[in-house]
Amino acid sequence: MREIAVIGAGTMGNGIAHTFAQYGFAVSLVDVSSERLDKAIQTIGKNLDRQMAKGSITEEVKSKTLSSIKTYTEIPKGVAGAALVVEAATEDINLKLKIFKELDEAAPQGAILASNTSSISITRIAAVTKRPGQVIGMHFMNPVPVMKLVEIINGYATRPEVTQSIIDLAIQLDKTPCVVEDYPGFIANRILMPMINEAICSLHEGVAGVKEIDTVMKLGMAHPMGPLQLADFIGLDVCLSILKVLQEGFGQPKYAPNPLLVNMVTAGYLGVKSGEGFYHYTPGEKNPPVSPRFLP
Ligand SMILES: NC(=O)c1ccc[n+]([C@@H]2O[C@H](COP(=O)([O-])OP(=O)(O)OC[C@H]3O[C@@H](n4cnc5c(N)ncnc54)[C@H](O)[C@@H]3O)[C@@H](O)[C@H]2O)c1
Repeated sequence: MREIAVIGAGTMGNGIAHTFAQYGFAVSLVDVSSERLDKAIQTIGKNLDRQMAKGSITEEVKSKTLSSIKTYTEIPKGVAGAALVVEAATEDINLKLKIFKELDEAAPQGAILASNTSSISITRIAAVTKRPGQVIGMHFMNPVPVMKLVEIINGYATRPEVTQSIIDLAIQLDKTPCVVEDYPGFIANRILMPMINEAICSLHEGVAGVKEIDTVMKLGMAHPMGPLQLADFIGLDVCLSILKVLQEGFGQPKYAPNPLLVNMVTAGYLGVKSGEGFYHYTPGEKNPPVSPRFLP
């Protein structure tokens, strides 16, 4: 497997394209927006510079990586020679179903179609294609070039040899694959999101402040980042939509998103990307202060 197509050139798509290209694959990066493609190439260049400054790659690897990535604004052109397609477009079920129908028509018959979705059922995505045995979840973590885990999700119909090739591929990228089955939230978000929600419930009930909650989890549980800061980093809208998937998928009240989270998302306080969530963000600030709304 040498030719990979990545659909979506946002946060995850640029990281996935960067990682495959760095490990010697020819990558076609596809996005509907040519601005997003230009921005992705710039971001990859900056991230490669950072790796060079740390001494983890050479100038030669940087230029080979950049020259291995070609960009496209149309799926059929981008996936024509792909052995694997990794879809990392916006997290929207209808959009993903539409993209997978198009991928099924345009990608070579033997190609594996993978999705980087955080929460949408792989079985449901596979069902709109004529090759459900070749559809699988390949869930990278953010930032992709740095994070070691690839959560591999077997859809109901995924064939064992397809899972094995994705395991082998993740190892070739110097990642650690973990195979899980297709149930709401898979493993990563099924465990992470209730923890984040519980942190928000504790804040909402006045049990402790933002700093205290995050400090307990950082220093007490050796988490590199507290759950409220992590929620800001992921995006509060993303956290809310994953909790809704868990609530709907399991039908249990324990997954109900806390009303404070719902209010914050409704008001547009989405965390890092909007400039404010549980913390207040200014560009270049390394230690963001707690949002004034959550100060006593
Ligand atoms: N951000 C994270 O931390 C994270 C982590 C793991 C998984 N994910 C998953 O990765 C996927 C992408 O998330 P993201 O954060 O990179 O989103 P993003 O909003 O940064 O990027 C999505 C990109 O998809 C493009 N797009 C939309 N429709 C398209 C189409 N029809 N064809 C091609 N491109 C299209 C958009 O133009 C945009 O550039 C989602 O499924 C998300 O759940 C995100």
